[in-house]
Amino acid sequence: MCGIIGYCSKDTKASSVIFQDLKRMEYRGYDSSGIAMMSGGKLLIRKGIGKLDEVNRQYKLDKMPGQVGIGHTRWATHGGVTQPNTHPHTDCSGQIAVIHNGIIDNYQELRKDLIKRGHRFASETDTEVIPHKIEDEMKRGRTLQEAVIAIAPRLHGSYAFLAISTREPGKIVGTRKGSPLVVGLGDHKAFAASDSLALAGQINQLFPLGEGEVAVLSADKAVFYDSTGREIPKKAIKPDAVWSENDKGSYDYFMLKEIMEQPKSLVAAALQDKEIFTAVSLDILRAGQVIVTACGSSRYAALVGRYLFSSVGKKFCEVVMASEFQYFADSVNKNTLVLAISQSGETLDVIEGVELARQEGARIVSIINRPQSLLGELSHNVIYLNCGPEIGVAATKSFLNQLAVFYLLSFSMVHSFDMAVDNIRKVSRQVSKTIEWNGEEIARITEKYHQKNDFYYIARGINFAIASEGALKLKEISYIHAEGMPAGELKHGTLSLIEEGTPVLVICPGDYTYKETLSNAIEAKARGAQIIAVSDVNNEIYDHWIRLPKVHELLYPIVAAVPLQLLAYSMAIKRGHNPDMPRNLAKSVTVK
Ligand code: F6R
Repeated sequence: MCGIIGYCSKDTKASSVIFQDLKRMEYRGYDSSGIAMMSGGKLLIRKGIGKLDEVNRQYKLDKMPGQVGIGHTRWATHGGVTQPNTHPHTDCSGQIAVIHNGIIDNYQELRKDLIKRGHRFASETDTEVIPHKIEDEMKRGRTLQEAVIAIAPRLHGSYAFLAISTREPGKIVGTRKGSPLVVGLGDHKAFAASDSLALAGQINQLFPLGEGEVAVLSADKAVFYDSTGREIPKKAIKPDAVWSENDKGSYDYFMLKEIMEQPKSLVAAALQDKEIFTAVSLDILRAGQVIVTACGSSRYAALVGRYLFSSVGKKFCEVVMASEFQYFADSVNKNTLVLAISQSGETLDVIEGVELARQEGARIVSIINRPQSLLGELSHNVIYLNCGPEIGVAATKSFLNQLAVFYLLSFSMVHSFDMAVDNIRKVSRQVSKTIEWNGEEIARITEKYHQKNDFYYIARGINFAIASEGALKLKEISYIHAEGMPAGELKHGTLSLIEEGTPVLVICPGDYTYKETLSNAIEAKARGAQIIAVSDVNNEIYDHWIRLPKVHELLYPIVAAVPLQLLAYSMAIKRGHNPDMPRNLAKSVTVK
């Protein structure tokens, strides 16, 4: 959450580069934004609330003079969405500017102490303690770099921050702990950013910064230091071309582009190293207990995975919501395998759970999409989703690829990896059919129900988590309340909410769950529900039929998830919302 960018150049249009790079990180937070430029030895700051384009219209962020600057796009944590709380923040004299991603846990204590010593604060943020602490150190005669190194150990919590000072106008100094920061070098230009995606096409060398490391950027180089201030050599990695594709193409929104890409991205999910899958499936089979931990959509993928592990590999595993993981830490030990699932590899709840499990001696395997992520660093083995950048806040193609990876893993447990790869390739064609078949029906459903306040999604067995995922998609981007649950649970309470006209979405493919799920749908219909069925089998009780192709019963989750994404997208558009940037949310959830 929050995107930060620093740019040192000889470029007279540096602020427009910073603005464009911030646009590429807007998925990380979009409630306010700002840029600080070093211009003629002075610090110039413009910032405002609203999405980046709105702020730019008002403040012309991309027309600021100067060749060195820092920019920030915010997802508010400490302090409301107000102009004073928008980054960059400065010290008392307005000579030092700082942008930050993360949370300084001990900011209240630091702030009280700074105020006592005469510092004046302009915002309610935790971040603002950083420029004031740097100010103190620079007053003692330290350079900007020395000041950053001196204050870092006194900041508790997580941070990646960048600082500039009028005393050293050609430099940017940055450091990180628990939040991501990469450095990139191009021709006579140096960048630091929360995400290498922001730097696509502009750099030829990429340096992910390690915990506690400090980078000092100038237009021609980047020099790296450890937390004690000792210069360290660092090897560059080549920026990955796949991760440079980050425009919407001909689509209005990233979300639709990413839904449509799914047949192709499923094929990429199957491009896996068999040896890694064999090793991980052996880890799973040998472990005394397997705990899968994840949040949101990734957790729903894990719930499907749990059925696959049980039904194919005959291995029971527990799925624990990452934010609750710490409360189960007592039963984690060296015989535990923790499978951590996260598109971003940055989700703090997952990272903290994994750190805890590591302390207890557990083995960690993660399933991630983003390369060079924090979660990857903490894991003994990593499997990648291979779906390329996912920019829309709602998970779509990463979710489908997570399902594919669980499918491959479960068949690796029974030495059938190659067959499973083949099946994933084949099912990608069925996903294309699902998209082709259902456009008109989804438009009709949207037209009829877009003003409803509540939706219920039901399914059984392996498909149950798809009901929950469908409901989550609808909630997060169209702001309609929705609940997903096992169909058999409806009669244990929720049925009392079904009344004349309530839409109930029933995922009932012609598999082992069909008969019983259909009975639950009939019970709901008898109470006035409108039945929207997602199935390969038509039935007279359906009010609407979203048609699925016939696939093997373990592959229905993959084909059923897609029309539910399209329905949520279509509802969001009909209700006038931007599905890429739902209110109050951000793509990488790096706070607790
Ligand atoms: C919902 C969604 C979120 C994420 C969750 C975990 O569409 O995208 O629920 O799935 O925040 O994110 P990752 O997978 O990055 O850990």
